[in-house]
Amino acid sequence: MHPAGDRRFSVRHLLDPPALQGTFAEDVRRGLSAEPKFLQPKYFYDALGSHLFEAICELPEYYLTGAERQILATQGDAIAAALPSPVRAVELGSGSAVKTRHLLAAILRRQGSLTFVPLDISPGVLERSARELVEAYPGLRVEALAADFDGGLRALAEDGAGRRAGEHLAILFLGSTIGNLDPPAARRLLHRVRSLLDPGDVFLLGTDLKKDERILLPAYDDALGVTAAFNKNLLLRINRELGGDFDLDRFAHRVRYDRRRGRIEMHLESLVDQTVRLRQLDFSVRFAAGETIHTESSYKYDSEQIADLARRTGFRPAGAWYDRDRRFAVSLLETAGVDKLPA
Ligand SMILES: C[S@@+](CC[C@H](N)C(=O)[O-])C[C@H]1O[C@@H](n2cnc3c(N)ncnc32)[C@H](O)[C@@H]1O
Repeated sequence: MHPAGDRRFSVRHLLDPPALQGTFAEDVRRGLSAEPKFLQPKYFYDALGSHLFEAICELPEYYLTGAERQILATQGDAIAAALPSPVRAVELGSGSAVKTRHLLAAILRRQGSLTFVPLDISPGVLERSARELVEAYPGLRVEALAADFDGGLRALAEDGAGRRAGEHLAILFLGSTIGNLDPPAARRLLHRVRSLLDPGDVFLLGTDLKKDERILLPAYDDALGVTAAFNKNLLLRINRELGGDFDLDRFAHRVRYDRRRGRIEMHLESLVDQTVRLRQLDFSVRFAAGETIHTESSYKYDSEQIADLARRTGFRPAGAWYDRDRRFAVSLLETAGVDKLPA
C-alpha cells in the first residue's frame, strides 16, 4: 500500500463479531420456525457470498449491473452536475463500488477532491474496494464504515456523517439494493436517510424497472448456476457458523415472479421430506418435500412508485437517468417537506 494512500483511507468497524453471531443465530431460528420459512438476504454476504455476488454482476443474464454501469459511465458528468457542491458522498451497501467509480470520477472532475464514505456489511470487500479507490483517484479520501444499515445510519446520525462546514451530503443507494426491502421497510430506510439530510442535500437511488418476466427470471436463475450457488451459500453459512447439517443436494434454487407485488422471489426448495439439525442452537427443523425457504425478494419499480416512495418519505424527485433500453433508473431525490424528520 502506498503511504500517501494510507493517509487517505480509514475503515471504522461497527460490526461486533460475537453480537453478530448471536443475531444471526436468533434470525435463523426465527426464520426457520416461521410459516412460511424465510431467511434475511443480508446474510448472503459473508466473504464467499460477496465474491459470488461479484461473479453474478459479470453474468450476461444479470443485466442490472451493465445497465446501471452504462448510466453512470455515460451520464456521470450530468449526474455530478446535478449534485450540490461541494459534496461528501456516502454509499449504502457499496460492495465492490465498481460502478460508483464512474460517478466518483465525475465528481472529482468537478470539485477536485472528495470524501467518500462507503458503508457495507461485508468488511473484506469494503476494505479491498476502499484501498483500490484511493490508489486510483489521488483526490479521493475514503472513510469506510463496516456496518449494517441500522448501525451505520445510527453512527452517521451521531457524527453528522462527518461532514465539514459548507459541505453538502449525497447519499447513494445503488445496485437495486432497495429492491430487497419490502415497501414498509423501504419507506423506513428512506425516512432514516431523510433524517440525516439538511435542505440542499440529496439521495441518489438506483432501481431496477418493471419489465417482461422473460428478462427478469433468467437474471436470477442463470445458466451457469452462479445465482443458485449464491442462494445455497446461505445453507453452507448456517452449517459452518451454527453447526447445521443441511445437505445442499437436497435443496434446489427456485425463482418466481410475483406480478401482483412486482417482485422476483428467490427460494430454496426442499426436494424431500427431511429434518435438519442446527447443533449450536439445539434446534431441529422439519421440511416437507416441496416446502421452500424464501431467501430474497427483489422489487421492481416504475417511475410513479419511485415518486410515491419519495413523496411519502420527505423527498421530491428531481431528476432521473436511464440506460438506453430503459431497464434501470438512477433517480435524484431532493429534500422536501419537513426539514428534519424524527430519526
Ligand atoms: C445487491 S448488492 C449491491 C452491491 C453494489 N452496490 C452494486 O451495485 O453492485 C447489496 C450490497 O449491500 C450490502 N448489504 C446487504 N444488506 C446489508 C445491510 N443490512 N447492511 C449493510 N450492507 C448490506 C451487501 O454486502 C452488498 O454489498
